[in-house]
Amino acid sequence: MNRLVPLLLLAAAVLAFATVFLVILPAGEIRTVAPPPQLEPYTEAELRGRAQYVSLGCVYCHSQQPRAPEQGPDADRGWGRASTAPDYAYDSPHLLGTMRTGPDLLNIGARIPSQAWHLTHLYQPRAIHPTSIMPNYPFLFETRAEAGPEDVVVKLPDALLPDNGVVVATQEALDLVSYLLSLDRTYPVSNPDLRDNGYADRGKTQ
Ligand code: HEC
Repeated sequence: MNRLVPLLLLAAAVLAFATVFLVILPAGEIRTVAPPPQLEPYTEAELRGRAQYVSLGCVYCHSQQPRAPEQGPDADRGWGRASTAPDYAYDSPHLLGTMRTGPDLLNIGARIPSQAWHLTHLYQPRAIHPTSIMPNYPFLFETRAEAGPEDVVVKLPDALLPDNGVVVATQEALDLVSYLLSLDRTYPVSNPDLRDNGYADRGKTQ
């Protein structure tokens, strides 16, 4: 019992040490990171689409963090250069992801810049990749007898066309695709090391 006080002090010291080195110092290091000049803030539609991405659980199968060549063949897969902290300056919450059941999506807007492709793929991934295990999201679409002037009609193979009418995208589907098309961090970064690439200094003057 007489060792309780030293034990508590030691526990408090370990906790304080961990808090300083794992929370306070890293937070201080990235606090001043400014967005790269080439990166646009998300539009309203893209933000709504991002909320869809979160609520539909896309992050459980898709990462958004291409790795450096020495950590994995992500660049060879066409997923882009290793991401850096400024690439995520407008991201809240972060959607880095931990699972890669599907490809990394940080640069999907550059890799597949077609709204029509994404709408078809979301309606039915197997219309594009017959062996895909990605879920389909039919509730993001509606079947109409005929398309109105504002409607975006989903291109589908004959086998998937409804008996009568056409499949059109809802606003939720259009927003989600706006978000996917905005994902493009292919601009060059001179030095992937955050402390040396000038972004940190630029942030401090703002
Ligand atoms: C159960 C896991 C899973 C979930 C959940 C999932 N995906 Fe996928 N996704 C995959 C797989 C596997 C592929 C590769 C096969 C394909 O293209 O269908 C893929 C491919 C993709 C691609 C094409 C990537 C490329 O480089 O060709 C996009 C875009 C995509 N998914 C977006 C989404 C979005 C948006 C959501 C959420 C609405 C989502 N995915 C949810 C597994 C998943």
